[in-house]
Amino acid sequence: MGAGIKKKIKPAKRLAGSLRFPGDKSVSHRYAMLAAIAEGPSEIHFFAESADCQSTLQCLEGLGVKIEREGNLVGIEGVGPDGLRRPDQPLDAGNSGSTIRMLAGILSGQPFRSVIGGDASLSRRPMKRVIEPLTRMGARIESAEGGRPPLAIEGGKLQPIHYDLPVASAQVKTAVLFAGLFAEGLTEVVEPRRTRDHSEIALEQMGAQIGRHGSTIGIQGKARLSGRKLYVPGDISSAAFFMVAGLLVPGSDLTFHDVGLNPTRTAIIEFLQSMGGDIGVLKLDILNGELIGDLHVSAGRLRGGEIPLEMIPGLIDELPVLAVLGTQAEAGLVFHGAQELRVKESDRIAAVAENLRKMGAEVEEFPDGLRIPGRQVLQGAEVSSFGDHRIAMAFAVAGLIAESATTIMDSGCVQISFPTFFETLASVTE
Ligand code: S3P
Repeated sequence: MGAGIKKKIKPAKRLAGSLRFPGDKSVSHRYAMLAAIAEGPSEIHFFAESADCQSTLQCLEGLGVKIEREGNLVGIEGVGPDGLRRPDQPLDAGNSGSTIRMLAGILSGQPFRSVIGGDASLSRRPMKRVIEPLTRMGARIESAEGGRPPLAIEGGKLQPIHYDLPVASAQVKTAVLFAGLFAEGLTEVVEPRRTRDHSEIALEQMGAQIGRHGSTIGIQGKARLSGRKLYVPGDISSAAFFMVAGLLVPGSDLTFHDVGLNPTRTAIIEFLQSMGGDIGVLKLDILNGELIGDLHVSAGRLRGGEIPLEMIPGLIDELPVLAVLGTQAEAGLVFHGAQELRVKESDRIAAVAENLRKMGAEVEEFPDGLRIPGRQVLQGAEVSSFGDHRIAMAFAVAGLIAESATTIMDSGCVQISFPTFFETLASVTE
């Protein structure tokens, strides 16, 4: 995606102003999917207009759900637990791992066969992690070689399972919980490390019986969900690029409004603060069970160091931009335990290492992480997005602190999560 489009980023003098971010991608997917199988209408405000969340809406339409869109306001006419229709054509999840994995949970509970696939990047991503538990629950799932998309899912009567997640993945946890809605009895999922809990919150808000005990989440099947009005918080993973830019570009001062501050997503703030980053939380509120607030960021010196292993799942989407920050921190940055980065929209470990080297930086690559020495000077360069939105945005931030202009090739992929990223960046850059 975005092939052919390129973006030039000039070194910045400073960043200043106040910003709002698009609706959270993770939350938008979940609200749309649950609203579709709830009873009655839902109104979702500040729904992410990004390509990934539009893929979810399109798949739901393919399943016979009526959806109205007016900018970031989305109306969904819930069809109830038995109301989805067999799709006439394969469902297209585009670039979105969240769409295919989480929707696979719902499709497993349907009494029909459906096929779901996506673009070239998605077609390389591992799906065995959802195929395995959903098959244990009773779905029959065929995949392309090596457990890759497309998936052909023959759903039906499901049985509840107790499932120990082999990878700390919120998408897989969600697939099992969503399938659990269609099973008779209690489905339990155990997380090896805590991951984002937007599904649990949304399920509870919409009327499911769901609870957590330690690292086990249990959901009672056959609950009836009710449609409602929902508000999506600003996406903290989109804000993260501006947090890092605001900390790195000398003299910067930024205020962010209505950012989602769910504690399973705020590791980025905690980690940056632990490095000495000046980030203040100004205001807090709760919107349909999700914490939101305003943030203030100003530039300053950063210590750097090693990211603790237990923080990795909570920082998984922020690691590319943290790697950029590592080049500027006093002690650089090291992390391990992030092998999952190799199977995201691109191999994000290889992509970050290659681009940083193009900018003249020293980087050491591990199978599951990176070591980036600190206090390095970045040179402007031509870097690739690897078709990956988070790589494009991380290197736009690198471009702000480089000695000369940086060109991001195939930059159009920012539309996957943050279609207005470059305009937003320009609006606060001096
Ligand atoms: C997501 C979970 C994470 C994250 C992705 C969104 C979600 O993936 O990287 O961008 O919405 O649940 P995994 O669950 O595969 O770690």
